[in-house]
Amino acid sequence: MQKFNNSTNQTFPCSRILSNPDIVYTIPENLFDCSQHSCDGEFLDSGRGTVVLFSYLGQEMVLKTYHRGGLPGRFVRESYLYTGVYKTRMWKEFHMLMELHTLGLPVPRPIAARCELSGPFVYRGQLLMEKIPHSNTLAEVITETELSDHTWGSIGEIIARFHAHGIYHSDLNASNILLTKDLGIYLIDFDKCSIHPPTVPTTTWFESNLRRLKRSLLKYAEKTPTFHFDDGKWQELKKGYDGIRVGITQGLLTLVVSSELAPTLLRLL
Ligand SMILES: Nc1ncnc2c1ncn2[C@@H]1O[C@H](COP(=O)(O)OP(=O)(O)O)[C@@H](O)[C@H]1O
Ligand SMILES: [Mg+2]
Repeated sequence: MQKFNNSTNQTFPCSRILSNPDIVYTIPENLFDCSQHSCDGEFLDSGRGTVVLFSYLGQEMVLKTYHRGGLPGRFVRESYLYTGVYKTRMWKEFHMLMELHTLGLPVPRPIAARCELSGPFVYRGQLLMEKIPHSNTLAEVITETELSDHTWGSIGEIIARFHAHGIYHSDLNASNILLTKDLGIYLIDFDKCSIHPPTVPTTTWFESNLRRLKRSLLKYAEKTPTFHFDDGKWQELKKGYDGIRVGITQGLLTLVVSSELAPTLLRLL
C-alpha cells in the first residue's frame, strides 16, 4: 500500500511526499526538482504542465508539475489553494491511478507525489509516474501515419472498458491516449477525473466523453493537413466501443434475469 510522510511539522515551507512502495520504497526529494534533470531528462511542452521524462535506478519515469495555463509568472501558475491534502490534484490523481491499475485498466502506475506548501493555504503539486515505454500520443502517431481500422476499434474498446467501470475522463482528447510501438493503448491524465456509480447505459456522460474526443480529433485535423482522421475512422472507434458496451449491457441483463431479484424487477417494469 502507499506510504505517506504525514509530517506534523507546521513550519513553512514544507513538503509532503506520498510514495508507492510497490515500485520504490523511498523516493529522494530531489527527483521532484526539474532542474536536476536538465542534463539527462527530456522536457515536454505538454501545453498545461511541465513534464519531464528521466530514468532513476533503471526505472523510466515521468514527472508532472501541475499548473494552469494563461496565467503570468511560474509561481502564480503553479500555486493552488490548499484545503487539505486529500483535496490536492496530485493526491487525487495518484489514488485514481492506483485504483485504475488495480482494476486492470491500462494506465501508468503512480510512483510518488509531492505537495509543497509555501504557507498554510498555498500548495504546488507534482506527480511521478511510470513512463509508458516507446509510446507517443494518438495525436502524434496519426500525424505521421495511418492507423488500421482494427486499431481504431481497439481504442474504442479500451474507452468502453473504462466506462464500464464508471470512469469519467474529464479531458479525453487525442493527447491523453498513448499508443506504444506494438500498439498497446493507454489512457493518461486523470487529473480531475471521477468514478461514477454504476448507472443505466443511457446516461449521457458516456456520450459527452466521446464527443470531447471527437472534437479534439477534428480540431487537430483542421490544423494538420497530414492528420489521418476522418469519419470512417471514427465509425471504427465507435464500432469497437459499442461492441464492448452491448456486451456489458447483455451481461447485466443476463445477471438480472437469472438473479433472485428478477421477479421483483419484472414487477417494477
Ligand atoms: N506515463 C507516461 N508515459 C509516457 N509519456 C507520458 C506519460 N504521462 C504523460 N506523458 C506525456 O506528457 C504529456 C502531458 O502529460 P499529461 O499527464 O497529459 O499532462 P497535462 O495535464 O499537461 O496534459 C502527454 O501528452 C504525453 O506526451
Ligand atoms: Mg494531457
